[in-house]
Amino acid sequence: MKVYLKTYGCQMNERDSEQVMRDLLARGFERTSRAEDADVVLLNTCSVRDMAEQKALGKMGMVGARNRGRPEVVYGFLGCMAQARGESLLAEVPHLDLVVGTQKFHRVADHVDAAVAAKRRKLTLEGAIDDLRFSVVDVGEEDGSQNTIREHTLAPRQAAAFVSIMQGCNMHCTYCIVPRTRGAERGRPIADVVAEVRSLVERGVKEVTLLGQIVNLYGRHEFPKSASGASPFVQLLEAVNAIDGLERIRFTSPHPIGFRRDLVDAFARLEKLCEHVHFPLQSGSNRILKAMHRGYTVEKYLDLLAELRAARPGIAITTDIIVGFPGETEEDYASTRASVEAADFHNAFVFRYSPRAETPAAEMAAQHSEETKELRNHDLLAVVDKLARKHSGAYVGRAVEVLCEGPSKTNPLRLSGRTRTNKIVVFEGRPRHVGELFDVRIMHSSGFTLYGDLAPDLHASTEAIAEPALSS
Ligand code: 5AD
Ligand code: SF4
Repeated sequence: MKVYLKTYGCQMNERDSEQVMRDLLARGFERTSRAEDADVVLLNTCSVRDMAEQKALGKMGMVGARNRGRPEVVYGFLGCMAQARGESLLAEVPHLDLVVGTQKFHRVADHVDAAVAAKRRKLTLEGAIDDLRFSVVDVGEEDGSQNTIREHTLAPRQAAAFVSIMQGCNMHCTYCIVPRTRGAERGRPIADVVAEVRSLVERGVKEVTLLGQIVNLYGRHEFPKSASGASPFVQLLEAVNAIDGLERIRFTSPHPIGFRRDLVDAFARLEKLCEHVHFPLQSGSNRILKAMHRGYTVEKYLDLLAELRAARPGIAITTDIIVGFPGETEEDYASTRASVEAADFHNAFVFRYSPRAETPAAEMAAQHSEETKELRNHDLLAVVDKLARKHSGAYVGRAVEVLCEGPSKTNPLRLSGRTRTNKIVVFEGRPRHVGELFDVRIMHSSGFTLYGDLAPDLHASTEAIAEPALSS
C-alpha cells in the first residue's frame, strides 16, 4: 500500500507530517512521491491564507478526477483546514474520506487503516462501484495532544531537525485563524523536549529548530519561572544548550510580547543559539498594530532589535509583514516601508492580507481591493530585495560555518547548507560532506543565496579518490 502525503504551510505542518508518515511506515505503508501511484492520498493543509486552502482543494479535486475508476483509493485532509472547516469539506469534495484535525495527527494511521479495510469490504460485497466513500471527521480537542508529535524519520545523514515544543496560540491577533485551527496554548514538559533532542543527537542530528506558534511564550501557563526569573522558554533553551554533541539551536517564531531581557541575554550566554531570529513585525504603523491586536509599538520592536544586536553582534533578523490590512492608509503603508528600512531586515516574507472566516479583521470596514494589496506587496518586496542583496553581498570574500543539508534544490549536482545566520550556501562537495559542519568561503551572492568553495584541505584527501562524486 502506497501513501502520498503532501504538506502545505509552515514548519509545524512539516513536522506533523513527519510524525504521521512515521506512524504509517510503522504499519507497513510505503511512501510515494507520485499522487497517481498512491492507494492513500493525504494532504496536510494550511488555512492561514485563502490561497493555501485553494491549493489543497484544487489538488484534491485533481487527484480525485484523475483516479476515476479507482474507487478503492483513500483520500484525507489533515491539519488546519480540516480543523477549521470540518464536516463541510465532505460536502465540498465528493470523494473525500477523512477529515482529521490538528489535535488528532496520532489517530491518522488508525483512520487510514479503517478506511482501507472498509473500502475493500464494500468492494468485495458490492463489486466495482463508483462511490465507496468512507467518512470520518475527527476534529475534537484532545488533552495532551501536544505530546504526541515526538518521533522522527530521519533521512540518511540528516543533520537538522524540527522539534515541536508547544501547540496553539492565545494571542488572538485580529487577522489570524491560528487560534481556531490550533487551539489554546499547550506546552510539552522540558524533560520530554530534552529527551527528544538527545535522541536526535544520538542519531547524528547537529541542529534543532524548536517550533511553536509563539515559541517564546512556551510554558507560560504550565511551568514556573526559575529562581533567577528566567521564563520557561529560556530554561528550555539552557537545557537544550547543555546537550553534548548538539551544535546549533534555532527557534521559530517568537512574538515581541514576552521577548524579555532574559531571552535577549540568552543570545549573549548560550553559544549554540544561532545568530538568526525570525521575528514577525506584521506592520510598521502603530495604528495598524493596534487594530491587529499585536500589543507593541514599532518603537518597542526596534528597541528590541537594538538590544538583540548588542547582545549578539552580526545577528540576522528576518520578519513577516502583512500589507493591505483593513483600513491601512497610504500613510500607514509608508510607515511600514520606513520601518522595514529602519529595521534593516536580512529578509522578509510579505503577505497580502487575506480575510479569514470568523476573525475580527474579516468583519472590519474598509477592506482593500486586491489591486491595492498587490501594489503595496510589489513595492515592499523591492525594499526587501534591496536589503537582502546588501546583506548577502557583505558575505563575499568571507569564510563562514555551514551545516550541509544535502543536494541543492535548484542544482542537485551541488550541495547546499545554511550559515548560522540562516543564509543558504551552495557549493561543490562530496557525499561525505552531507550532514557535516565546515567552513565555506563565499565567492559571490545572488539576492538570497550565497555561492562558495570548500576550504582546499576539505576537497583533497585520499579518501575522496575512492568515493563517488556527488553527481554519480
Ligand atoms: N492574511 C495574510 N497573512 C497572514 N498571516 C497570518 N494571517 C494572515 C492573514 N489573514 C501571516 C502573518 C504570519 C504569517 C505566518 O502569516 O504574517 O506571521
Ligand atoms: Fe496568529 Fe497572532 Fe497567534 Fe501568531 S501570535 S499564531 S499571528 S494569533
